[in-house]
Amino acid sequence: MKSSIPRHIAIVMDGNGRWASQRGLSRAEGHKAGLEALKSVIKACAQRGIKALTVFAFSTENWGRPASEVRQLFDLFLHALTHDTQSLHENGIRLRFIGDLTAFEPALQEKMREVEQATQHHQQLTLAVAVNYGGHWDIVQATKQIAAAVQAGRLQLDDIDANSMETYLSTHALPPLDLFIRTSGEQRISNFLNWQLAYSELFFTETLWPDFDDAALQQALAQYALRERRYGKTSEQLSGVDTC
Ligand code: FPP
Repeated sequence: MKSSIPRHIAIVMDGNGRWASQRGLSRAEGHKAGLEALKSVIKACAQRGIKALTVFAFSTENWGRPASEVRQLFDLFLHALTHDTQSLHENGIRLRFIGDLTAFEPALQEKMREVEQATQHHQQLTLAVAVNYGGHWDIVQATKQIAAAVQAGRLQLDDIDANSMETYLSTHALPPLDLFIRTSGEQRISNFLNWQLAYSELFFTETLWPDFDDAALQQALAQYALRERRYGKTSEQLSGVDTC
């Protein structure tokens, strides 16, 4: 089944550090440039009618980075949430955070909730920012909710299936994930949206994230438009010409 525009794109925004070191800049400068690239991509997705964009901003594994870099990333998040929210309103963008937010300092958690609330009525595009997120964490937290529902008698064992599982994942309000993009030449999933990626199309590019511009997005979308999504069926079945 071919469909030209993905409803939901996920991006691993990789390569900020390498982009900075190629220019003799600090890693923090690389993340700042990464934020600028993200702002352009969000607008471009909204304008193209893409309904959801999920980006990996901080993984459960990123706590292992030097404390100074972790601090700089949190400062950048807080700065963006304080100064860059006007364009969310102008472009009809709803912001959501997915991940275990309880690990963040209260001021940052509060700001995250505040912007989520202020943008909750926007419908052009949902931007889900994954912070302290891991695909394993998501499946474990969903499983715990399911176990609690069974224990409380609100859910029967026989009612647990892939569809019901999805309603407990942190992405439950988003459309199915159509396209996964990773920049900087790495070809790994890195514990991002493990469950949700089951039928997604994958696109890897050598471009470092801060250089990922409109032309790069267009290239990913053009590739996607050429892919045939068969969901385990044959081309003939999908085109209605069954040769058996
Ligand atoms: C990976 O590049 C990038 C990150 C871990 C951080 C991504 C964050 C941003 C782009 C800022 C987003 C801001 C908001 C408010 C959502 P890397 O550091 O691993 O690069 P390297 O592999 O070249 O070292």
